[in-house]
Amino acid sequence: MSIFEEYIRQMDTYVPGPEPPLREPERQLWFTCRVRSLVAQRAAAAGRPLTACVRTFGCQMNERDSEKIRGILLAAGYVLTEEEEADLCLYNTCTVRENANMKVYGRLGLLGNRKKKHPDRVIALCGCMMQEPTAAARVRETCPFVDLIFGTHNLYRFAELLAAVLSGNGPVCEIWDKPDAIVEELPAQRTYAFKSGVNIMFGCNNFCTYCIVPYVRGRERSRTPEDILGECRSLAADGVKEIMLLGQNVNSYGKNLETPVSFADLLRQVNEVEGIERIRFMTSHPKDLSDDLIEAMRTCGKVCPHLHLPLQSGSDALLKKMNRHYTRDQYLRLTDRLRSAMPDLSLTTDLIVGFPGETEQDLQDTLDVVRRVGYDTAFTFIYSKRSGTPAASMPDQVPEDVVKDRFARLLALVQETGRERSSRFTGQVQPVLAEHVNEQDPSLLTGRLPSNLTVHFPGGASEIGSILNVRLTQCKGFYYLGERA
Ligand code: SAH
Ligand code: SF4
Ligand code: F3S
Repeated sequence: MSIFEEYIRQMDTYVPGPEPPLREPERQLWFTCRVRSLVAQRAAAAGRPLTACVRTFGCQMNERDSEKIRGILLAAGYVLTEEEEADLCLYNTCTVRENANMKVYGRLGLLGNRKKKHPDRVIALCGCMMQEPTAAARVRETCPFVDLIFGTHNLYRFAELLAAVLSGNGPVCEIWDKPDAIVEELPAQRTYAFKSGVNIMFGCNNFCTYCIVPYVRGRERSRTPEDILGECRSLAADGVKEIMLLGQNVNSYGKNLETPVSFADLLRQVNEVEGIERIRFMTSHPKDLSDDLIEAMRTCGKVCPHLHLPLQSGSDALLKKMNRHYTRDQYLRLTDRLRSAMPDLSLTTDLIVGFPGETEQDLQDTLDVVRRVGYDTAFTFIYSKRSGTPAASMPDQVPEDVVKDRFARLLALVQETGRERSSRFTGQVQPVLAEHVNEQDPSLLTGRLPSNLTVHFPGGASEIGSILNVRLTQCKGFYYLGERA
């Protein structure tokens, strides 16, 4: 029985008392039952099941949070849909860059218009953008049709908040400025049956000067290894083969636990979980990457030979202004150590162009590190001013046309070096986790190599979720075409 089915079964036999329990997660189980009966009433009145759509913006943490929200919606009797014209539409927002915010405002306008014709529809917003007081206030002022707003710290209370809205006590807005507890034992509806993210920690203490994440996700908190391993075991029992350990800075995992545990040791323990065949993790801060972790990656057979190691900038002056706590030399020495321990390791990175005060020489320094390291892929971002962060008030913000020109040059180099580096496996046979039917050609499957590159190869839907041997016949830049070996 899957974890999710187990939860539903628990709900079937669960007789809610007259008052909601005070303890979590029992309290949310009580409210999920309450939502279920309210949804059933509305469905009976409409003569059809109610539908719900959850849209996710932002990173893997938000994707994982959305899986939890979908789990609760399913348990409450909603039918999930990709269509935003649903009885309930929820946006799980991101605010890391301004354009992430703009997307949400644009779509909210559309939803508001449609709601005029369908006043029963529930519109909900959660996630990082709601943790920003100015953004939440703007939504409340300009979008009175939004029924429910909550933040990142109280996501586990979704059932309770939705119950209030469906009982006619809306609009509801509950945002906490800090977390009260880690409540993880709620149902989650995984997007993929065979792979899953697992939160190992929440929040961030690094305060890189451009970044809003520490303000909206709070201080660093780690889950205990027992909880994490327990979740990995039940996911494995539920058919999950690949696990992605999630945290803003996994390399500082475990420091604040009662009995401190290093990330390297956690990795060794997850490596022992039977049934799990692949382990990935995101994200690693270069300043905290220990030699012990390199050793754990090298020796743990299930840990994929891929490391996402955000550089942000190759200039010492900018790294200092960004508060990154490493120099370009330290970063380069680290990648040398990684490559000598694991010659085949795929490195990927994040880069920011246009940080305040950036000069042409700073850009040249970044281009130089990109050339030296040889990334498989790099995510390049234009610096976005986030209010409340130290960089927002730094002098010498770079003019837009200069940034655009620099961005284009960086992107061209990243693509050129990425193509070259990604082709190194041509001709090899590699184990590939088949993820989905190819969107353009249904006779092909799309899967992932241990290095995280994708490959398209002949196969059928019944093989999704299997690890298959594929010969990588042709590299097409950032992906391969392959045949069965
Ligand atoms: N915790 C992760 C990254 C989280 S945000 C880490 O430290 O690596 C993902 C990426 O968004 C960052 O690596 C950075 O490159 C980019 N980013 C964050 N804030 C930004 C901003 N204000 N403007 C542009 N890019 C930003
Ligand atoms: Fe943001 Fe830096 Fe924390 Fe990453 S490590 S989330 S970039 S503050
Ligand atoms: Fe965005 Fe929040 Fe992730 S701001 S990048 S969704 S932690």
